[in-house]
Amino acid sequence: MSYPEVIAAERPAQQLQRTAVPRRLLMCRPRHFEVSYSINPWMHPEKPVDNSLAVLQWERLRELYLALGHSVEVIDPLPGLPDMVFAANGATVIDGKVLGARFRHLERTAEGPAYLAWFKQRGFDELLWPEYVNEGEGDYLAVGRRILAGTGFRTDQRSHYEAQEFFGLPVTSLTLVNPRHYHLDTALAVLSDTEIMYWPAAFTPGSQAVLRELYPNAVLASAADAAVFGLNAFSDGRNVLLPQSASGLIAQLRARGFHPHGVDLSELLKAGGSVKCCTLELRD
Ligand code: ARG
Repeated sequence: MSYPEVIAAERPAQQLQRTAVPRRLLMCRPRHFEVSYSINPWMHPEKPVDNSLAVLQWERLRELYLALGHSVEVIDPLPGLPDMVFAANGATVIDGKVLGARFRHLERTAEGPAYLAWFKQRGFDELLWPEYVNEGEGDYLAVGRRILAGTGFRTDQRSHYEAQEFFGLPVTSLTLVNPRHYHLDTALAVLSDTEIMYWPAAFTPGSQAVLRELYPNAVLASAADAAVFGLNAFSDGRNVLLPQSASGLIAQLRARGFHPHGVDLSELLKAGGSVKCCTLELRD
């Protein structure tokens, strides 16, 4: 157990001083959002989606980030790419280095170059167009100086080595087994440089053991909280933005001294995405 984890585990919540670190975020307004194809079990093209409600819910999320002191940049949404709102999938950015995304499904393929072009235009000069399929921060989550990497549904395991070489940071592979939790960020969230929360049943027994070994004091989600995408969360070290229906997680986070903010993104959930999926962190 590392020192900050000991503190987190042993001090009562009210004594815990959680510090928010302002972040630079990238988001994509869901102007062209719809569910016109199905590439995960949440997506039902026959069911209606309210685009203006999706935009409204997304605007509220963006405003909450701004109110909490974060900076939010936006990339222009492209027609014909309804899932482009899920900016987390657009790349992985650590130490100013940009690992481009190469999507598993044809429906999203064009998003990879679109996001990479934005980074080029914004002056990021260390960019890698990847050899292997990887869906950005959907499957790559940085916890301090370690990268947790998902595989099983989308990101090719060979990409994990590609990411390790590119970023020069240790990458830990984790295998997902539940198709409703097809990206790592649907089953695990980073709370601070040393703390995470996750739903064990989304992982193979071996990956569960790895997580127990690395994060013995992790917040464990219930099946009910995982099912409402409660783990698709963003944390600045103090404030945790997550789906409002994840009431168990909200209580657990509060008990650990975090400030949870419940968010309603019901329309985007119809495509299998929520808070974290809409948010890409630009780490300089
Ligand atoms: N419909 C999108 C897909 O299946 C949702 C992506 C959600 N993004 C995420 N970071 N989990 O690819």
